[in-house]
Amino acid sequence: MKKNVFAMAIAACMAASLAACGGADTAATTAAQTTGAQTTAAEAGETASAEETTQAEAEAAGGVLVMATNAEFAPWEYYEGGDIVGIDPEIAQAIADKLGMTLEIEDMAFDSIIPAVTSGKADFGAAGMTVDEDRKVFVDFTDTYANASQVIIVKEDSEIAGSKDLSDKKIGVQLGTTGDLLATDLAGDSNVERYNKGFEAVQALLQDKIDAVVIDSAPANVFVEQNEGLKVCSEAMSQEEYAIAVAKGNTEMLDKINGALKELKEDGTIDAIMNKYIPAE
Ligand code: ARG
Repeated sequence: MKKNVFAMAIAACMAASLAACGGADTAATTAAQTTGAQTTAAEAGETASAEETTQAEAEAAGGVLVMATNAEFAPWEYYEGGDIVGIDPEIAQAIADKLGMTLEIEDMAFDSIIPAVTSGKADFGAAGMTVDEDRKVFVDFTDTYANASQVIIVKEDSEIAGSKDLSDKKIGVQLGTTGDLLATDLAGDSNVERYNKGFEAVQALLQDKIDAVVIDSAPANVFVEQNEGLKVCSEAMSQEEYAIAVAKGNTEMLDKINGALKELKEDGTIDAIMNKYIPAE
């Protein structure tokens, strides 16, 4: 039912944004071609260098790339002192470097990231964000850069061994995440406790307010390392892929990020960043 409504919204959205983009692109291309045809070779040279200067000035004067994230999700993004560090900030910094822009990171609740991107407050969202059909109604995703799965954290002495044991249990999740959706499917809305931070769900588990936490695997491992008496069940409950989200129809930003991502994958930068934060066992 919910899916159908989303599917209809996607169709409407796509029709609207395709029409809008098509129109703008055509006009821009035509204008550029006309100018080019009327310019002599010498003039073209001057125009090119003038353009370079303007672009260099623009970059120096604030080619700022704003990233929206939720820095409560080590090793993907978290605070170290006052700084937001982790895999996503490093990848985003490498992308900004490739584009000659200055990266600015805005920390917010996870479920505010997509609204920040669609409203233009942020240029993109990078937050260990899973590519998801429902989200594609609002944003476009870049090429993927990592794989992940949902896992279950329980107390060490828990009898819960996997998803089959969760149907009548109280499950803690981070609000608006794929873990939230999965837990709701498994145990029903009334059994799911939604927290703003994954850490708050883990606290609730430690205090026996809930029976389990469903969250992405790498953060689960970090929480278990940092807190006594917890374990991660071995079952990988989903196959997910992370990507960067840009506003729907913002093909310019999408292409720029994809171009940079491709180079960073090919030259080994992405692998190096991943290995730094998630060393292979
Ligand atoms: N991968 C999950 C999702 O997309 C969880 C992401 C949570 N990220 C964060 N920075 N808190 O829903």
